Amino acid sequence: MSTHISAAPGQIAPHVLMPGDPLRARWIAHTFLEDVECYSEVRGMLGFTGTWRGERVSVQGSGMGQPSMAIYLNELLREYGVRSVVRVGSCGALTEKVAVRDLVLASGACTDSSMNRIRFEGLDYAPVADFGLLRGAHDAALARGLGDRTHVGLIVSSDSFYSPRPDLTARLVDYGVLAVEMEASALYTLAAEHQAKALTVCTVSDHVITGEETTTQEREQTFGDMVEIALEAMLA
Ligand code: HPA
Repeated sequence: MSTHISAAPGQIAPHVLMPGDPLRARWIAHTFLEDVECYSEVRGMLGFTGTWRGERVSVQGSGMGQPSMAIYLNELLREYGVRSVVRVGSCGALTEKVAVRDLVLASGACTDSSMNRIRFEGLDYAPVADFGLLRGAHDAALARGLGDRTHVGLIVSSDSFYSPRPDLTARLVDYGVLAVEMEASALYTLAAEHQAKALTVCTVSDHVITGEETTTQEREQTFGDMVEIALEAMLA
C-alpha cells in the first residue's frame, strides 16, 4: 500500500481513468467495467479495477485541484507502475465557441498554480497531452457522431473555483483558451516526469460567460459518452 492508496502490488492496472469525484469512480466502474473490485477506500477516495472488452483498467478518484490530483497520481506512477491516465472531468466553458454539454479534449493546460513555477524555478514549462491518446479520443468522438460538439485546444487549470481575478482568465481566452478546470496541468507534468501518457477529457458542466448549467441527468449522459471515448482512446 502507498500513503494514500491501500492497493496491494498488482491490484492497479497500468491504464487508469481519473474522475475528480470518487463517487463518479464507483459509478464508472460499476457501469462500464466487468469483474470490478474496489482496491482502496482511504479517505473516501475510492479506487476500482475491472475489465473493459477483456482488458484490465482501473478507475481512481483524484479529488479536486492539482495538489489532490498530484498526491494520487504520484503514488499511481511511482508505486503502482501506471503507464497511462485519462482524466474524465468537468469544466467551465470560457468562450461562446464552446457550449454546455460539449466535450473538450485538452491538448495543453495553462495554469495559475505555483506547482510548476516551483518545480522549474520560474521557467514556464508547457504541459501537453499525449498525442496518441488525444488522437484516439478525437477519433472515438468523431465515430460517435460527436464531431460538432468536440473541441480540441488549450484549457486552464486554476487553483480557484471561485476566481479572485476573472479578468485574468478572460485574458487567456484572447489567446485561445477554451475552458477552465482544476487538475490537467499537474496531470500532464507528472506524467511527463514519469514518461507516462496522459490526457484530459472534460464535459462542459457550466458556462462562465452565459451562466448556463447542465442538469444532473444531462451530466450523466454526456459523462457516459466521455467515459467510453476515454476507454477507447486508452485501450482500443
Ligand atoms: N471552474 C473550475 N473548474 C470547473 C468549473 C469552473 O467553472 N466548472 C467545472 N469545473
